[in-house]
Amino acid sequence: MPTLSKRAHVLQESPIRKLDLTAMKHPDVVFHRLNIGQPDVATPAPLLEAIRAFQPPVVAYGPASGLPACRDAAAEYHGRWCSDLRREHVAVTTGGSEALLFAFSAICDPGDEILVPEPYYTNYNGFGTVVGVGIRPIATTLETGFAIPPDDVLDTLVTERTRAILFSNPGNPTGAVYGRSELERLIAWARRHDLFVIADEVYRRIWFEAPPTSALELDAPDHVVIIDSLSKTYSACGIRLGFLLSRNAELMEKIERLGQSRLGPQPLAQHVAIAALGLPGSYYDEIRETYKARVAAMMDAITSVEGVRANRPAGAFYSMLDLPVDDADAFAKYLVSTFRLDGESVVVAPGGGFYANPARGRTQIRLAAVLEKQKLERAAEILAAGIRSYKGRVA
Ligand SMILES: Cc1ncc(COP(=O)(O)O)c(C=O)c1O
Repeated sequence: MPTLSKRAHVLQESPIRKLDLTAMKHPDVVFHRLNIGQPDVATPAPLLEAIRAFQPPVVAYGPASGLPACRDAAAEYHGRWCSDLRREHVAVTTGGSEALLFAFSAICDPGDEILVPEPYYTNYNGFGTVVGVGIRPIATTLETGFAIPPDDVLDTLVTERTRAILFSNPGNPTGAVYGRSELERLIAWARRHDLFVIADEVYRRIWFEAPPTSALELDAPDHVVIIDSLSKTYSACGIRLGFLLSRNAELMEKIERLGQSRLGPQPLAQHVAIAALGLPGSYYDEIRETYKARVAAMMDAITSVEGVRANRPAGAFYSMLDLPVDDADAFAKYLVSTFRLDGESVVVAPGGGFYANPARGRTQIRLAAVLEKQKLERAAEILAAGIRSYKGRVA
């Protein structure tokens, strides 16, 4: 039997998706899926129209860093935050996921480390494993609204292998939003240590009170790398189209080479991106209102449950909750395989997978406000009943 790589053996199973397989074994149960960031919001009509209109005689490869028209559209769109952006500052990728993988690959050697405020988007672990890079967590807590600790604490985490600090803003899974003063501080800190700043801004358009500051707004052209995506902003997760942006010319040249190794991002998706990036400003107001109402409904319902602690998200559409259970992983399995309320149950993402050391998230879950308001309220009701039943069972 030929052997697989050590890397393959340590690849994590996505904690967000793993309960889905169990749920599929119960086709008779109505599951409210709050585990995956897959919104049920309709993809805007101009994107669907772009799909229908795409009728090339040959579906050909395109350029490695994307079609010029798509790169130009992205440079113009991001020009809202940074006035001197041009085509060469944009690489089109297969989702924000590939942009992250490219950023990790171009910035780090095997054995290097990236600092990430924890809890963090669990797939950062997967990209780290693929390129041999360690994710070093920066501990944050629910009690402090997941605030990033002061510079002197960050200083203690830097080693000679540290290459970058990575964060999502707004945050998945925390819903934390970093504003201007926080961004200025983080970028000044990173520059002092000569680290890259990888700002994962795939939720940038989804905020409730005050907008996040894009790292593009600050004057650190050599240090800042931005990740963006069509997935959440345009409810187009399946189109698999993202962007990596940076004004660091050397980095962008290497990103172009990484792009050449997989040829090009798909042309259909890029035509959809051009349509998306041209939507009027009112579209973004609408989606913000949609998610604001959903998140408020979910949080009102869930925080009234005895023993549940949560930070109110300021952006994105997730919340990390601390539950009055001993083991959120076992509880999440119990919900999917055993607990039913009138034939319904909920699928949640256990918190452990969002931490480098899963024990830190042992009593936590992440919820995604990706369903209509009434469904979210019903899901919260089922969750509350599930907590009572689970505690009664193990007591
Ligand atoms: C923080 C964050 N970054 C990146 C991604 C990847 O997005 P994409 O669908 O564009 O690959 C996600 C997806 O959920 C995410 O939550």
